Amino acid sequence: MTRPAITGATVVAGVVGAPVRHSLSPLIHNAWLEAAGIDGIYVPFGPPADGFEAFANGLRGGAVRGLNVTLPFKEAALALADKVSAQARAANAANLLVFEADGTVVADNTDGLGLLAALTIQAPGFDPRSGPIAVLGAGGAARGAAAALLAAGAPQVRIVNRTLAKAEAVAAALGGSIVACPLTGAARAFAGVAAVINATSAGLSGQGDLDAPLEASPSQAVVMDMVYKPLVTPFLARAQALGRRTVDGLEMLIRQAAPSFEAFYGRPPPSEVDVRALAMKALGQ
Ligand code: ATR
Repeated sequence: MTRPAITGATVVAGVVGAPVRHSLSPLIHNAWLEAAGIDGIYVPFGPPADGFEAFANGLRGGAVRGLNVTLPFKEAALALADKVSAQARAANAANLLVFEADGTVVADNTDGLGLLAALTIQAPGFDPRSGPIAVLGAGGAARGAAAALLAAGAPQVRIVNRTLAKAEAVAAALGGSIVACPLTGAARAFAGVAAVINATSAGLSGQGDLDAPLEASPSQAVVMDMVYKPLVTPFLARAQALGRRTVDGLEMLIRQAAPSFEAFYGRPPPSEVDVRALAMKALGQ
């Protein structure tokens, strides 16, 4: 990949996180920019963990068009925004900030769109309305996923978590057709589901597998992991061994990036560049 020329009119956007070093977002967005011939650039920003507000408030006015926001700043991003989308409000987190010229900051959350698009792409024909969906975990990722699935018409979301109280808190915060279940009762929670989605951090970078009885889910259930390092987590490997259709976290990462790209650069990403192949190469897959 050749680096695009920087001009006086280059539109700047980026990703902010701590750490941000291993983010694949610069690779994805810059590949799209280059393929589309857009005069733009996408850079990583790594303020200190206690320096997010000062950093983001300093960008008010639009000299930097916008930011994707990753851990641990998604809640802080929501808190400093002047306008908040319904998706970000439901997720209680923002993964996208846009800096308007008048100084206002607009927060959105495209993780839910990314989740639904990844399911549609890697499990063709999957319909979130077709049955209950089990979401493992009760952190920010799980809450965002549950909110997006309910908004997409899932008849019920079952929040399954090691610490039941946290699952109950997510269920109470979101309301609607959502129930909390302990991880020890996962077999019952998996009965009759259309999908099982791992939104815990278990499986990340070779940490242990999640103790979840996937064999208790129906054979046609789709199994997804939001973790993408490794691309095939122990959880997904077990699902594949059971013959389940699987969806990986890399597809979600790419699909949440697409609406962000459009918010920054004013048009959807080009389709002719295979950013998944580039990302897989960067992951060593
Ligand atoms: P995030 O905001 O990114 O979702 P988080 O708030 O740290 O991250 O939440 C991580 C989730 O993964 C939690 O639901 C955690 O379970 P607890 O609430 O019981 O702590 C879950 N988790 C992490 N490692 C796990 C493991 N090995 N087994 C089961 N659940 C795990």
